[in-house]
Amino acid sequence: MLNVVILGSTGSIGRQALEVIESLELDCRVTALAAHSNYQELLEQCHRFSPSRVALVDENSALQLKESSGELDVEILQGQEGLIELASDREADLVMVATVGFSGFLPTLYALRNGRKVALANKESLVVGGELLAREVPEYKELIIPVDSEHSAIYQCLQGEKRESVKKLILTASGGPFLNTSPEHLPEVTPAQALKHPNWAMGPRITIDSATFMNKGFEVLEAGWLFGVELENIEVVVHPQSIVHSLVEYQDGSVLAQMGTPDMRVPIQYSLTAPGRKSNSFPALDLNSQSLSFHEPDTEKFPCLRLAYEAGKTGGTMPACLNAADEVAVELFLKGIIKFTDIAKYVEMAMKEHELVSEPSLEDIIEADRVTRNELKKIVARLG
Ligand SMILES: NC(=O)c1ccc[n+]([C@@H]2O[C@H](COP(=O)([O-])OP(=O)(O)OC[C@H]3O[C@@H](n4cnc5c(N)ncnc54)[C@H](OP(=O)(O)O)[C@@H]3O)[C@@H](O)[C@H]2O)c1
Repeated sequence: MLNVVILGSTGSIGRQALEVIESLELDCRVTALAAHSNYQELLEQCHRFSPSRVALVDENSALQLKESSGELDVEILQGQEGLIELASDREADLVMVATVGFSGFLPTLYALRNGRKVALANKESLVVGGELLAREVPEYKELIIPVDSEHSAIYQCLQGEKRESVKKLILTASGGPFLNTSPEHLPEVTPAQALKHPNWAMGPRITIDSATFMNKGFEVLEAGWLFGVELENIEVVVHPQSIVHSLVEYQDGSVLAQMGTPDMRVPIQYSLTAPGRKSNSFPALDLNSQSLSFHEPDTEKFPCLRLAYEAGKTGGTMPACLNAADEVAVELFLKGIIKFTDIAKYVEMAMKEHELVSEPSLEDIIEADRVTRNELKKIVARLG
Protein backbone atom coordinates (compact mmCIF):
# COMPACT_ATOMS: atom_id res chain seq x y z
CA MET A 1 0.00 0.00 0.00
CA LEU A 2 1.51 3.30 -1.19
CA ASN A 3 0.86 6.33 1.06
CA VAL A 4 0.34 9.22 -1.35
CA VAL A 5 0.26 12.97 -0.74
CA ILE A 6 -1.18 15.13 -3.56
CA LEU A 7 -0.38 18.84 -3.58
CA GLY A 8 -2.60 20.71 -6.06
CA SER A 9 -5.38 18.12 -5.80
CA THR A 10 -8.04 20.53 -7.08
CA GLY A 11 -6.21 21.27 -10.34
CA SER A 12 -6.18 19.51 -13.69
CA ILE A 13 -3.37 17.08 -12.76
CA GLY A 14 -4.50 16.63 -9.15
CA ARG A 15 -8.07 15.72 -10.12
CA GLN A 16 -6.89 13.28 -12.77
CA ALA A 17 -4.50 11.67 -10.28
CA LEU A 18 -7.39 11.09 -7.87
CA GLU A 19 -9.53 9.76 -10.72
CA VAL A 20 -6.76 7.30 -11.69
CA ILE A 21 -6.31 6.11 -8.08
CA GLU A 22 -10.06 5.66 -7.63
CA SER A 23 -11.02 4.16 -10.99
CA LEU A 24 -8.08 1.74 -11.25
CA GLU A 25 -8.32 0.81 -7.59
CA LEU A 26 -4.57 1.33 -7.29
CA ASP A 27 -2.92 0.05 -4.16
CA CYS A 28 -2.69 3.60 -2.77
CA ARG A 29 -3.92 5.37 0.33
CA VAL A 30 -4.37 9.13 -0.10
CA THR A 31 -2.99 10.40 3.19
CA ALA A 32 -2.93 14.15 2.49
CA LEU A 33 -4.26 16.67 -0.03
CA ALA A 34 -3.56 20.35 -0.60
CA ALA A 35 -4.66 23.25 -2.77
CA HIS A 36 -4.63 27.03 -2.80
CA SER A 37 -8.18 28.18 -2.00
CA ASN A 38 -10.77 25.82 -3.50
CA TYR A 39 -12.10 24.55 -0.16
CA GLN A 40 -15.39 23.25 -1.61
CA GLU A 41 -13.61 20.82 -3.93
CA LEU A 42 -11.11 19.87 -1.23
CA LEU A 43 -14.00 19.11 1.12
CA GLU A 44 -15.61 16.88 -1.51
CA GLN A 45 -12.23 15.11 -1.96
CA CYS A 46 -12.03 14.61 1.84
CA HIS A 47 -15.37 12.78 1.75
CA ARG A 48 -14.17 10.58 -1.15
CA PHE A 49 -10.63 9.77 0.04
CA SER A 50 -10.56 10.34 3.84
CA PRO A 51 -7.07 11.89 4.02
CA SER A 52 -5.81 12.39 7.57
CA ARG A 53 -4.43 15.87 6.76
CA VAL A 54 -5.18 18.62 4.24
CA ALA A 55 -3.74 22.10 3.63
CA LEU A 56 -4.95 25.28 1.95
CA VAL A 57 -2.54 28.11 1.22
CA ASP A 58 -5.22 30.77 1.52
CA GLU A 59 -5.97 31.24 5.22
CA ASN A 60 -9.59 32.42 4.79
CA SER A 61 -10.34 29.36 2.67
CA ALA A 62 -8.73 27.14 5.33
CA LEU A 63 -11.07 28.74 7.87
CA GLN A 64 -14.07 28.11 5.60
CA LEU A 65 -12.99 24.49 5.26
CA LYS A 66 -12.77 24.13 9.05
CA GLU A 67 -16.29 25.56 9.38
CA SER A 68 -17.73 23.25 6.71
CA SER A 69 -15.90 20.07 7.66
CA GLY A 70 -18.32 19.17 10.50
CA GLU A 71 -17.65 15.69 11.85
CA LEU A 72 -14.88 14.91 9.36
CA ASP A 73 -11.80 13.48 11.06
CA VAL A 74 -9.17 15.56 9.24
CA GLU A 75 -6.42 17.90 10.39
CA ILE A 76 -6.52 21.20 8.46
CA LEU A 77 -3.26 23.09 7.91
CA GLN A 78 -2.88 26.48 6.29
CA GLY A 79 -0.42 28.67 4.43
CA GLN A 80 2.64 27.72 2.40
CA GLU A 81 4.02 26.13 5.61
CA GLY A 82 1.08 23.72 5.57
CA LEU A 83 2.07 22.47 2.11
CA ILE A 84 5.69 22.18 3.14
CA GLU A 85 4.72 20.16 6.20
CA LEU A 86 2.69 17.72 4.07
CA ALA A 87 5.50 17.46 1.51
CA SER A 88 8.01 16.65 4.26
CA ASP A 89 5.88 13.90 5.83
CA ARG A 90 8.18 10.93 6.47
CA GLU A 91 5.16 8.58 6.41
CA ALA A 92 4.51 9.49 2.76
CA ASP A 93 5.84 7.03 0.18
CA LEU A 94 5.13 9.39 -2.71
CA VAL A 95 4.50 13.15 -2.84
CA MET A 96 2.83 14.32 -6.05
CA VAL A 97 3.62 17.99 -6.62
CA ALA A 98 0.92 19.30 -8.95
CA THR A 99 0.56 22.90 -7.82
CA VAL A 100 1.21 25.55 -10.44
CA GLY A 101 4.19 27.88 -10.87
CA PHE A 102 6.78 28.87 -8.28
CA SER A 103 4.47 27.59 -5.51
CA GLY A 104 5.66 24.04 -6.25
CA PHE A 105 9.33 24.73 -5.65
CA LEU A 106 9.54 24.77 -1.82
CA PRO A 107 7.33 21.69 -1.32
CA THR A 108 9.43 19.80 -3.91
CA LEU A 109 12.65 20.90 -2.24
CA TYR A 110 11.46 19.89 1.24
CA ALA A 111 10.09 16.56 0.04
CA LEU A 112 13.44 15.73 -1.59
CA ARG A 113 15.47 17.03 1.37
CA ASN A 114 13.47 14.58 3.49
CA GLY A 115 14.22 11.73 1.09
CA ARG A 116 10.63 11.43 -0.14
CA LYS A 117 9.87 10.06 -3.62
CA VAL A 118 8.32 12.82 -5.70
CA ALA A 119 5.93 12.42 -8.65
CA LEU A 120 6.74 15.74 -10.26
CA ALA A 121 4.18 17.56 -12.40
CA ASN A 122 5.36 21.02 -11.35
CA LYS A 123 8.11 21.60 -13.93
CA GLU A 124 8.81 25.05 -12.47
CA SER A 125 10.45 23.36 -9.45
CA LEU A 126 13.34 22.14 -11.59
CA VAL A 127 13.39 25.24 -13.79
CA VAL A 128 14.00 27.57 -10.84
CA GLY A 129 15.71 25.19 -8.43
CA GLY A 130 17.50 22.51 -10.46
CA GLU A 131 20.94 23.95 -9.70
CA LEU A 132 20.24 24.23 -5.96
CA LEU A 133 18.77 20.72 -5.82
CA ALA A 134 21.80 19.26 -7.56
CA ARG A 135 24.00 20.79 -4.84
CA GLU A 136 21.74 20.11 -1.85
CA VAL A 137 20.22 16.72 -2.68
CA PRO A 138 22.73 14.95 -4.95
CA GLU A 139 20.47 11.88 -5.22
CA TYR A 140 17.43 13.92 -6.41
CA LYS A 141 17.35 12.24 -9.85
CA GLU A 142 16.66 8.86 -8.29
CA LEU A 143 13.87 10.31 -6.14
CA ILE A 144 11.85 12.00 -8.92
CA ILE A 145 9.36 10.24 -11.20
CA PRO A 146 8.23 12.67 -13.88
CA VAL A 147 4.53 13.25 -14.54
CA ASP A 148 4.93 15.58 -17.52
CA SER A 149 4.11 13.43 -20.58
CA GLU A 150 7.37 14.30 -22.39
CA HIS A 151 9.55 13.49 -19.39
CA SER A 152 7.57 10.37 -18.60
CA ALA A 153 8.23 9.30 -22.20
CA ILE A 154 11.98 9.89 -21.86
CA TYR A 155 12.05 8.21 -18.44
CA GLN A 156 10.42 5.14 -20.01
CA CYS A 157 12.76 5.16 -23.04
CA LEU A 158 15.75 5.22 -20.65
CA GLN A 159 14.69 2.15 -18.64
CA GLY A 160 17.41 -0.49 -18.69
CA GLU A 161 19.79 1.70 -20.75
CA LYS A 162 23.16 3.16 -19.78
CA ARG A 163 23.14 6.95 -19.44
CA GLU A 164 26.49 7.23 -21.29
CA SER A 165 24.84 5.62 -24.35
CA VAL A 166 22.49 8.59 -24.72
CA LYS A 167 23.34 11.00 -27.54
CA LYS A 168 20.44 13.38 -27.26
CA LEU A 169 16.92 13.86 -25.98
CA ILE A 170 14.19 14.98 -28.38
CA LEU A 171 11.15 16.65 -26.84
CA THR A 172 8.03 16.84 -28.96
CA ALA A 173 5.84 19.98 -28.97
CA SER A 174 2.27 20.11 -30.23
CA GLY A 175 2.83 23.70 -31.35
CA GLY A 176 -0.25 24.95 -29.49
CA PRO A 177 -3.23 26.80 -30.93
CA PHE A 178 -1.19 29.30 -32.99
CA LEU A 179 1.10 26.94 -34.84
CA ASN A 180 -0.42 27.97 -38.17
CA THR A 181 -1.33 31.56 -37.26
CA SER A 182 0.70 34.08 -39.24
CA PRO A 183 3.09 36.16 -37.09
CA GLU A 184 1.27 39.43 -38.06
CA HIS A 185 -1.92 38.13 -36.43
CA LEU A 186 -0.29 37.00 -33.16
CA PRO A 187 -0.55 40.42 -31.42
CA GLU A 188 -4.36 40.32 -31.80
CA VAL A 189 -5.02 36.82 -30.43
CA THR A 190 -7.28 36.79 -27.37
CA PRO A 191 -6.93 34.90 -24.06
CA ALA A 192 -9.98 32.80 -25.04
CA GLN A 193 -8.25 31.71 -28.28
CA ALA A 194 -4.96 31.05 -26.47
CA LEU A 195 -6.76 28.90 -23.87
CA LYS A 196 -8.06 26.53 -26.60
CA HIS A 197 -5.28 23.97 -26.80
CA PRO A 198 -5.77 21.60 -29.76
CA ASN A 199 -4.79 18.36 -27.95
CA TRP A 200 -4.65 18.79 -24.17
CA ALA A 201 -7.05 20.12 -21.49
CA MET A 202 -4.82 21.72 -18.85
CA GLY A 203 -4.74 24.56 -16.30
CA PRO A 204 -4.61 28.15 -17.65
CA ARG A 205 -0.91 28.91 -17.02
CA ILE A 206 0.47 25.86 -18.82
CA THR A 207 -2.04 26.31 -21.65
CA ILE A 208 -0.82 29.86 -22.33
CA ASP A 209 2.79 28.69 -21.91
CA SER A 210 2.10 26.03 -24.55
CA ALA A 211 0.79 28.69 -26.92
CA THR A 212 3.96 30.82 -26.50
CA PHE A 213 6.33 27.76 -26.46
CA MET A 214 7.56 28.82 -23.00
CA ASN A 215 6.19 25.53 -21.73
CA LYS A 216 8.51 23.68 -24.10
CA GLY A 217 11.39 25.87 -22.97
CA PHE A 218 10.64 24.98 -19.34
CA GLU A 219 10.51 21.32 -20.35
CA VAL A 220 13.97 21.57 -21.93
CA LEU A 221 15.39 22.89 -18.65
CA GLU A 222 13.41 20.31 -16.66
CA ALA A 223 14.78 17.50 -18.86
CA GLY A 224 18.33 18.80 -18.44
CA TRP A 225 18.09 18.48 -14.65
CA LEU A 226 16.03 15.31 -14.57
CA PHE A 227 18.22 13.29 -16.90
CA GLY A 228 21.61 15.01 -16.49
CA VAL A 229 21.87 15.98 -20.17
CA GLU A 230 23.49 19.23 -21.43
CA LEU A 231 21.06 21.70 -23.01
CA GLU A 232 22.87 21.53 -26.38
CA ASN A 233 21.92 17.84 -26.47
CA ILE A 234 18.22 18.49 -25.94
CA GLU A 235 16.22 19.25 -29.08
CA VAL A 236 12.64 20.27 -29.64
CA VAL A 237 10.64 19.02 -32.60
CA VAL A 238 7.11 20.13 -33.46
CA HIS A 239 4.73 17.18 -33.70
CA PRO A 240 1.16 18.54 -33.93
CA GLN A 241 -0.58 15.19 -33.29
CA SER A 242 0.92 14.71 -29.76
CA ILE A 243 1.14 10.94 -30.27
CA VAL A 244 4.92 10.56 -29.95
CA HIS A 245 5.46 12.01 -26.48
CA SER A 246 9.26 12.30 -26.76
CA LEU A 247 12.32 10.39 -27.92
CA VAL A 248 15.84 9.39 -26.92
CA GLU A 249 18.57 9.09 -29.54
CA TYR A 250 21.38 6.69 -28.60
CA GLN A 251 25.04 6.72 -29.67
CA ASP A 252 24.45 3.88 -32.16
CA GLY A 253 21.81 5.90 -34.03
CA SER A 254 18.83 4.04 -32.53
CA VAL A 255 16.00 6.33 -31.56
CA LEU A 256 13.49 5.13 -28.97
CA ALA A 257 10.10 6.82 -28.73
CA GLN A 258 7.18 6.45 -26.34
CA MET A 259 3.76 6.84 -27.94
CA GLY A 260 0.14 6.97 -26.88
CA THR A 261 -3.04 9.01 -27.11
CA PRO A 262 -2.70 12.52 -25.63
CA ASP A 263 -4.15 11.61 -22.22
CA MET A 264 -2.41 12.83 -19.05
CA ARG A 265 -3.96 9.99 -17.06
CA VAL A 266 -1.43 7.62 -18.66
CA PRO A 267 1.78 9.35 -17.41
CA ILE A 268 0.03 10.09 -14.10
CA GLN A 269 -0.78 6.40 -13.75
CA TYR A 270 2.80 5.45 -14.65
CA SER A 271 4.17 7.79 -11.96
CA LEU A 272 2.07 5.84 -9.44
CA THR A 273 2.89 2.32 -10.66
CA ALA A 274 6.44 2.65 -12.12
CA PRO A 275 8.29 0.54 -12.99
CA GLY A 276 5.17 -1.65 -13.02
CA ARG A 277 2.11 -1.19 -15.24
CA LYS A 278 -1.58 -1.82 -14.78
CA SER A 279 -4.28 -2.20 -17.44
CA ASN A 280 -6.88 0.54 -17.79
CA SER A 281 -9.83 1.35 -20.02
CA PHE A 282 -8.53 4.67 -21.39
CA PRO A 283 -8.89 5.08 -25.19
CA ALA A 284 -6.19 3.05 -26.97
CA LEU A 285 -3.95 4.39 -29.73
CA ASP A 286 -5.17 3.56 -33.24
CA LEU A 287 -2.25 4.07 -35.59
CA ASN A 288 -4.40 3.26 -38.66
CA SER A 289 -6.27 6.51 -38.21
CA GLN A 290 -3.15 8.67 -37.70
CA SER A 291 -0.49 10.26 -39.79
CA LEU A 292 2.46 11.60 -37.84
CA SER A 293 4.45 14.67 -38.85
CA PHE A 294 7.50 16.44 -37.42
CA HIS A 295 9.19 19.76 -38.13
CA GLU A 296 11.51 22.33 -36.61
CA PRO A 297 10.10 24.97 -34.21
CA ASP A 298 10.05 28.60 -35.36
CA THR A 299 11.91 30.54 -32.65
CA GLU A 300 11.46 33.87 -34.50
CA LYS A 301 7.71 33.53 -34.20
CA PHE A 302 7.89 31.96 -30.72
CA PRO A 303 10.91 33.60 -28.99
CA CYS A 304 10.09 32.13 -25.55
CA LEU A 305 11.76 28.85 -26.51
CA ARG A 306 15.01 30.70 -27.28
CA LEU A 307 14.72 32.74 -24.05
CA ALA A 308 14.38 29.56 -22.00
CA TYR A 309 17.52 28.04 -23.57
CA GLU A 310 19.36 31.30 -22.87
CA ALA A 311 18.21 31.38 -19.23
CA GLY A 312 19.20 27.74 -18.78
CA LYS A 313 22.66 28.30 -20.29
CA THR A 314 23.21 31.40 -18.11
CA GLY A 315 22.14 29.47 -15.02
CA GLY A 316 22.26 30.91 -11.49
CA THR A 317 19.12 32.90 -10.72
CA MET A 318 18.30 33.55 -14.41
CA PRO A 319 15.84 30.62 -14.73
CA ALA A 320 14.03 31.90 -11.60
CA CYS A 321 13.80 35.30 -13.30
CA LEU A 322 12.53 33.64 -16.50
CA ASN A 323 9.78 31.82 -14.60
CA ALA A 324 8.72 34.78 -12.44
CA ALA A 325 8.56 37.14 -15.43
CA ASP A 326 6.55 34.61 -17.39
CA GLU A 327 4.16 33.99 -14.48
CA VAL A 328 3.45 37.72 -14.21
CA ALA A 329 3.21 38.25 -17.98
CA VAL A 330 0.81 35.32 -18.44
CA GLU A 331 -1.40 36.65 -15.65
CA LEU A 332 -1.45 40.12 -17.25
CA PHE A 333 -2.26 38.64 -20.66
CA LEU A 334 -5.13 36.59 -19.18
CA LYS A 335 -6.50 39.79 -17.60
CA GLY A 336 -6.38 41.52 -20.98
CA ILE A 337 -3.73 44.04 -19.83
CA ILE A 338 -0.96 43.05 -22.26
CA LYS A 339 -0.90 41.42 -25.71
CA PHE A 340 0.04 37.82 -26.41
CA THR A 341 3.28 38.90 -28.09
CA ASP A 342 4.13 41.11 -25.09
CA ILE A 343 4.68 37.99 -22.98
CA ALA A 344 8.02 37.23 -24.68
CA LYS A 345 8.87 40.94 -24.88
CA TYR A 346 8.47 41.47 -21.12
CA VAL A 347 10.22 38.24 -20.22
CA GLU A 348 13.20 39.31 -22.34
CA MET A 349 13.21 42.76 -20.70
CA ALA A 350 13.15 41.21 -17.23
CA MET A 351 16.06 38.93 -18.16
CA LYS A 352 18.10 41.87 -19.47
CA GLU A 353 17.58 43.82 -16.23
CA HIS A 354 18.15 40.85 -13.93
CA GLU A 355 21.06 41.04 -11.51
CA LEU A 356 22.43 37.54 -11.81
CA VAL A 357 23.52 35.55 -8.77
CA SER A 358 25.67 32.51 -9.58
CA GLU A 359 25.42 29.36 -7.46
CA PRO A 360 22.33 30.76 -5.74
CA SER A 361 21.20 29.85 -2.25
CA LEU A 362 17.53 29.20 -1.52
CA GLU A 363 17.20 32.81 -0.32
CA ASP A 364 18.75 34.09 -3.58
CA ILE A 365 16.18 32.18 -5.63
CA ILE A 366 13.26 33.43 -3.54
CA GLU A 367 14.62 36.97 -3.80
CA ALA A 368 15.10 36.70 -7.59
CA ASP A 369 11.49 35.56 -7.88
CA ARG A 370 10.21 38.42 -5.69
CA VAL A 371 12.28 41.17 -7.30
CA THR A 372 11.46 40.06 -10.86
CA ARG A 373 7.72 40.08 -10.13
CA ASN A 374 7.84 43.56 -8.57
CA GLU A 375 10.11 45.05 -11.24
CA LEU A 376 8.09 43.63 -14.11
CA LYS A 377 4.82 44.96 -12.72
CA LYS A 378 6.47 48.41 -12.48
CA ILE A 379 7.78 48.19 -16.07
CA VAL A 380 4.34 47.19 -17.40
CA ALA A 381 2.64 50.00 -15.44
CA ARG A 382 5.17 52.50 -16.89
CA LEU A 383 4.92 51.30 -20.50
CA GLY A 384 1.31 50.21 -20.51
N1 LIG B 1 -2.43 20.05 -16.74
C1 LIG B 1 -1.59 19.29 -17.40
O1 LIG B 1 -2.01 18.53 -18.28
C2 LIG B 1 -0.12 19.33 -17.10
C3 LIG B 1 0.75 18.54 -17.86
C4 LIG B 1 2.10 18.53 -17.53
C5 LIG B 1 2.57 19.31 -16.47
N2 LIG B 1 1.70 20.08 -15.77
C6 LIG B 1 2.21 20.90 -14.67
O2 LIG B 1 1.51 20.55 -13.49
C7 LIG B 1 1.35 21.70 -12.65
C8 LIG B 1 -0.14 21.90 -12.38
O3 LIG B 1 -0.79 22.21 -13.59
P1 LIG B 1 -2.37 22.17 -13.73
O4 LIG B 1 -2.64 22.29 -15.18
O5 LIG B 1 -2.92 20.98 -13.00
O6 LIG B 1 -2.76 23.52 -12.99
P2 LIG B 1 -4.19 24.00 -12.49
O7 LIG B 1 -5.28 23.20 -13.12
O8 LIG B 1 -4.21 25.48 -12.64
O9 LIG B 1 -4.19 23.62 -10.92
C9 LIG B 1 -3.31 24.25 -10.05
C10 LIG B 1 -3.38 23.63 -8.66
O10 LIG B 1 -2.43 24.31 -7.86
C11 LIG B 1 -3.11 24.98 -6.79
N3 LIG B 1 -2.47 26.29 -6.62
C12 LIG B 1 -2.63 27.42 -7.35
N4 LIG B 1 -1.85 28.42 -6.87
C13 LIG B 1 -1.20 27.91 -5.79
C14 LIG B 1 -0.30 28.43 -4.84
N5 LIG B 1 0.13 29.71 -4.90
N6 LIG B 1 0.17 27.62 -3.86
C15 LIG B 1 -0.25 26.34 -3.77
N7 LIG B 1 -1.13 25.78 -4.63
C16 LIG B 1 -1.59 26.55 -5.63
C17 LIG B 1 -4.55 25.10 -7.23
O11 LIG B 1 -5.40 25.23 -6.09
P3 LIG B 1 -6.84 25.98 -6.21
O12 LIG B 1 -7.69 25.09 -7.08
O13 LIG B 1 -7.32 26.05 -4.81
O14 LIG B 1 -6.57 27.31 -6.84
C18 LIG B 1 -4.73 23.79 -7.99
O15 LIG B 1 -4.91 22.73 -7.09
C19 LIG B 1 2.00 22.87 -13.41
O16 LIG B 1 3.29 23.06 -12.96
C20 LIG B 1 2.00 22.40 -14.86
O17 LIG B 1 3.05 22.96 -15.60
C21 LIG B 1 0.37 20.11 -16.06
